[in-house]
Amino acid sequence: MTDSAPFRIAINGYGRIGQCVLRALYESDFRDHLQVVAINELSDIDTIAHLTRYDSTHGRFFGSLAVEGQSLIINGDPVRVLRQADPADLPWEELGIDLVLECSGAYSDTATARRHLQAGAKRLLFSQPAEPDVDRTVVYGINDTSLTESDRIVSAGSCTTNCLVPVISALDKAFGVEQGSTTTIHAAMNDQPVIDAYHHQDLRLTRSALHNVVPVDTGLARGVERLLPHMKGRFSSVALRIPTMNVSAIDMVFNVRQSTDIAAVNRVLQQAASGPLKGILGYTNELLASSDFNHDAHSGVVDGGQTRVTQGTMVKVLCWFDNEWGFASRMLDVSRSWLQRVK
Ligand SMILES: NC(=O)c1ccc[n+]([C@@H]2O[C@H](COP(=O)([O-])OP(=O)(O)OC[C@H]3O[C@@H](n4cnc5c(N)ncnc54)[C@H](OP(=O)(O)O)[C@@H]3O)[C@@H](O)[C@H]2O)c1
Repeated sequence: MTDSAPFRIAINGYGRIGQCVLRALYESDFRDHLQVVAINELSDIDTIAHLTRYDSTHGRFFGSLAVEGQSLIINGDPVRVLRQADPADLPWEELGIDLVLECSGAYSDTATARRHLQAGAKRLLFSQPAEPDVDRTVVYGINDTSLTESDRIVSAGSCTTNCLVPVISALDKAFGVEQGSTTTIHAAMNDQPVIDAYHHQDLRLTRSALHNVVPVDTGLARGVERLLPHMKGRFSSVALRIPTMNVSAIDMVFNVRQSTDIAAVNRVLQQAASGPLKGILGYTNELLASSDFNHDAHSGVVDGGQTRVTQGTMVKVLCWFDNEWGFASRMLDVSRSWLQRVK
């Protein structure tokens, strides 16, 4: 336990990421530093309790959970449950909220995010890239130490930037990355219907998630540029959604300046995974499939057996990631890293 009281956290939007953040907090030592004191979600408290207890992807909640009035009691901790669409109506001042984890995906602009601060929260962390005018965008392990006390609205990037940027950084240092192109192979998400439905303005997101591999828009190349400005204009990306519930991969292709081979690329990534990026980047030579990475807290795990090098300078790397659990764990890492800098 830490000597000081844990920071007071609110989760806004208790869907896949919000629920994983709460579970990851109780499955780790984060609870010593951070306490979720409120959840704001548009559903009712009994459904919220049910979806905390039972999860098709991550299994049953291992702790104790009860409903008392408008609160959940989780492992003895009271968590107030609110149901407000407008952040300005949230009692963040009364609850002394140090940080809102903005996990609703309902908006990405800083003007709406600022309404949480106007309601009394001291800071807000987006679970998505959000608009470029956020105070800072961080990928944990790469630039989280740049967070300062004066930052108020921050983005933790996306699950894909958290997977990709550590790999680019390691390869850039070793071989010099000239250009890159990526294909994200992503599990289904709640912006897709189970079968065809008028679900979204994007025609591809009207199509059955159960039955299709669906190309979707991705801002991953822009995300790389925001984190690594010297890569501006040198990356492109596409993404496919696949009919699985969780775990994704990025197929990465880089042109590098210094000629290399498969063994050297894997050595660099393995050293990063066991050294400066330990716990963030993983590395495996095992013959695994996607479900083996379910509930894996790394931002990405390099599949060494899939590394390829063409004519010395075209490098291909496959990196797996649990898009829910890995990213939720990074939300907690960034929260702790940021708040511990705040006096
Ligand atoms: N899932 C992933 O793998 C993943 C990974 C990294 C980042 N993200 C990002 O995280 C965000 C959330 O994604 P998700 O997959 O967790 O989505 P999700 O499962 O749809 O969860 C979002 C939740 O927020 C609720 N909500 C909507 N508007 C709200 C409001 N105004 N106030 C409070 N709650 C509200 C939604 O309720 P209703 O369903 O009733 O609308 C839903 O329960 C998105 O920006 C996404 O891009 C997702």
